[in-house]
Amino acid sequence: MSEILILQAHPDLARSRVTRALAEAVRAATSPRIDLRDLYQRYPDYALDLEAEQSALAQARLIVLLHPLHWYGMPALLKLWVDEVLSFGWAYGPGGLALAGKDLWLASSTGGSEEDYSAAGRHGHAVETFLLPYAQIARLCGMRHLPPLLLHAAHRVSDAALHQHALSFVQRLLAYPQWCDSTQAEASQPPIELPVDARPAPSAPPTPVKTRSN
Ligand SMILES: Cc1cc2nc3c(=O)[nH]c(=O)nc-3n(C[C@H](O)[C@H](O)[C@H](O)COP(=O)(O)O)c2cc1C
Repeated sequence: MSEILILQAHPDLARSRVTRALAEAVRAATSPRIDLRDLYQRYPDYALDLEAEQSALAQARLIVLLHPLHWYGMPALLKLWVDEVLSFGWAYGPGGLALAGKDLWLASSTGGSEEDYSAAGRHGHAVETFLLPYAQIARLCGMRHLPPLLLHAAHRVSDAALHQHALSFVQRLLAYPQWCDSTQAEASQPPIELPVDARPAPSAPPTPVKTRSN
């Protein structure tokens, strides 16, 4: 189990340029501190092993989400992973302190350029507006949200710029946690408290069907 857990989520890695470059750079660094998990390779049937995922999370200090921005958010399997692995009473809610004090870092890329993500641009809002759920997931779980590492205009950046980007990703991982305090990381906040009935109660076992005996 490693101190840095990278959850890579790309539904079509064979056609990826950025995610693949970052993952390859991590692999080349061969650091025993880093566990890189390709969720789409691990769970082609979307049947997550919740126990294994939670166990890896519990050991990690830094959790990195590595994925392209799809529909202003995360790819479907990672969303399922959040829904199921970050469970109520474990990651958040009453007694859910398993992730409190850990760091969450998003490494993503966008097709849109930096200008596209502005009030006057194509997408009409700063990219941070779309990324608010990541900050809030961290907050709900009492994690520190580190400023995302983003590569814009993913299809237009030069090979040299992409290479540099991948290098700086790996350098930060290797130097973790030294750089975290000097970024504008939001300080860890106590987890948001939720009442016990904030989520549906677990379903009761099915009641046996009554049959007439005579
Ligand atoms: C299904 C899909 C949805 C996408 N949605 C967005 C989006 O909401 N905003 C954006 O800027 N780019 C979007 N893109 C472009 C990807 O973010 C871009 O192709 C990716 O960051 C490049 O990384 P990769 O080489 O690892 O695939 C989308 C691409 C696909 C295939």
